[in-house]
Amino acid sequence: MKEITIKEWGVNPFAAIGKEWMLITAAKDGKVNTMTASWGGMGVIWGADVVYVFIRQSRFTKEFIDAADTFSLTFFPRNAQKALAYLGSHSGRNEDKIGKVGFHVAFNNGTPYFEEAQTTVICTKWSKHSIKLEDMPADVREKWYADNDYHDMYIGRIEKVLVKETI
Ligand SMILES: Cc1cc2nc3c(=O)[nH]c(=O)nc-3n(C[C@H](O)[C@H](O)[C@H](O)COP(=O)(O)O)c2cc1C
Repeated sequence: MKEITIKEWGVNPFAAIGKEWMLITAAKDGKVNTMTASWGGMGVIWGADVVYVFIRQSRFTKEFIDAADTFSLTFFPRNAQKALAYLGSHSGRNEDKIGKVGFHVAFNNGTPYFEEAQTTVICTKWSKHSIKLEDMPADVREKWYADNDYHDMYIGRIEKVLVKETI
């Protein structure tokens, strides 16, 4: 893995997150869990480059993010989409889904990521914000939150962007 700057990465978040998806991964009590996400953003706040991720309260991964000081976002080649679809439709509560898709966990100073990832973003969990029902427009509330499974937004300060070196 080689560390690059955000400028060198030159990512288009609309494509990378919205179309190609990412994994959000964190560790808790020596265990690692991950989930697929296609909602989120990248930007700047409080004088730093950050990511914004949105995690519903029902996700097992939320327990890991809440317990951890850091998390990773990982981005994969197109041929991993089937694996990402699996990780985004099965819960780590019920099975070893990481093993099932054949991914291998690696650690960067204690933050878990995947050997198979093309790009890994190591983040410090900087803040957490509940997205409240009363702050949402009615159409959004009806379309996305009929089951009361709300999102929390986490702001992660980007510490490192790592890319897989090709030989
Ligand atoms: C393409 C795709 C995108 C997803 N995006 C999100 C997201 O942004 N936020 C979220 O809370 N869940 C999202 N999910 C759902 C979780 O990945 C899914 O519920 C997962 O099984 C949770 O696993 P866990 O219980 O092990 O955390 C997405 C699923 C897919 C397939």
